[in-house]
Amino acid sequence: METIRISDILKLEKSGLELTVNGWVRTRRDARGFCFLEINDGSCLANLQVIAPETLPDYDTLIQKITTGSSVSVKGTLVDSPAQGQKFELHALSLDVPGLAPQDYPLQKKKHSLEFLREIAHLRPRTNSIGAVARIRSSLSYAVHTFFQERGFCYVHTPIITASDCEGAGEMFRVSTLDSDKPPRTPDGKVDYSKDFFGKPASLTVSGQLEGEIYAMALGKIYTFGPTFRAENSNTPRHLAEFWMIEPEVAFYRLADDMNLAEEFVRYLAKHALDKNLADLEFFNERIDNGVIDRVKNIAESPFERISYTDAITILEKNNDRFEYKVKWGSDIQSEHERYLTEVTFGKPVIVHDYPKDIKAFYMRLNDDNKTVRAMDVLVPKIGELIGGSEREERLDVLTNRITAMGLDEKSYWWYLDLRKFGSAPHAGFGLGFERLILLLTGMQNIRDVIPFPRYPGNAEF
Ligand code: 4AD
Ligand code: MG
Repeated sequence: METIRISDILKLEKSGLELTVNGWVRTRRDARGFCFLEINDGSCLANLQVIAPETLPDYDTLIQKITTGSSVSVKGTLVDSPAQGQKFELHALSLDVPGLAPQDYPLQKKKHSLEFLREIAHLRPRTNSIGAVARIRSSLSYAVHTFFQERGFCYVHTPIITASDCEGAGEMFRVSTLDSDKPPRTPDGKVDYSKDFFGKPASLTVSGQLEGEIYAMALGKIYTFGPTFRAENSNTPRHLAEFWMIEPEVAFYRLADDMNLAEEFVRYLAKHALDKNLADLEFFNERIDNGVIDRVKNIAESPFERISYTDAITILEKNNDRFEYKVKWGSDIQSEHERYLTEVTFGKPVIVHDYPKDIKAFYMRLNDDNKTVRAMDVLVPKIGELIGGSEREERLDVLTNRITAMGLDEKSYWWYLDLRKFGSAPHAGFGLGFERLILLLTGMQNIRDVIPFPRYPGNAEF
């Protein structure tokens, strides 16, 4: 007898087969002569209803004692269900219970807050919402690879441990094997990192971009997809200390090409979610955010707006009375401003480009005005910044000046500068925060609920 998953049962054309289904019990209800079990196996949102007749062995001693959360293995016959909203039900011929869950199982059938579920991250994937998030994450990861592979990009594994700070913002987690109580010291009393594991200070990467550029300058089109780490003390619903980033980098691309790629990518991912994860999306639309499907469709179907930073500031300044932080030319735009542009002004994703150089990273290409750089951010409703990217500074002298002007150590970027020395070429890329994408596609409110095991200040449980 064949073991089958519920998602595959729902694809069957007709009933009548004898099957085995393994899963966990969501509810049990007794009726005269039999009991109903709702089983979920994680393959999809839908449960399978099992009908266990009293003629089964151990009916009173075991089957009637099955609790929410117990695991079961059911052999039975698939029959057409008379009940509404389900195609089939399974009439049990035998039923095993490998793991009975005691009454203190925390996920009893009632609505639990997402905050509470975060405290039981080892059990929360068994809920409809977190299970659906997990399936969408998996499906979208696959879509990321498909998108780039179909377009001839090479997937490059950039390092997790690094000695360079890509964003130059000093928000890195130190990686060290030195004894933190008694670290070796140099004669002038500083910690002697030459005695550390790597012979110098090392950290977890904030971005794979710099190493991505190395490969783009050899293979032409590359992308990375991996974990990145930021030690910024941001306790917001959009920041994590550990998150996944997708970073394409393309040789001979200019900023306009980069924006085109970013837009095509986001729209492809939105369409993929609608095509492949509709049942889960419908659940989010009904239970979490009833605008989410419309927003995802809008993203898939209509072109993004593009506006320069300078023009965006003109719009925002007229509305400064609405904002907590007032803006003027030169200010970094905050999430309240980003959301105003994408939600109120345009009602769709917006790409803001050509930001002032002083609020952006050292590697972005300087414009001829000497004031702005070829940066772009993709802003989306409900989230704000989804993507940050730029055309890179490919001119050795300009880049060297920028590095020193920003107080960074030229020596530690020697290999990055070499790329500008040996066969330099224009190139551009961007980084998309995977968890922010999942927020966008699910309508979930808090980034801590769209990654299995969130890391944020004060939390690294599980
Ligand atoms: O804008 P960011 O800092 O850009 C970079 O890291 C570039 N090196 C990327 C590149 O050009 N290759 O980060 C890129 C994206 C942001 O737009 C945001 O979606 C996400 O990464 N992100 C975060 N997501 C969750 N938690 C955080 N703390 C994040 N910081 C950035
Ligand atoms: Mg950014």
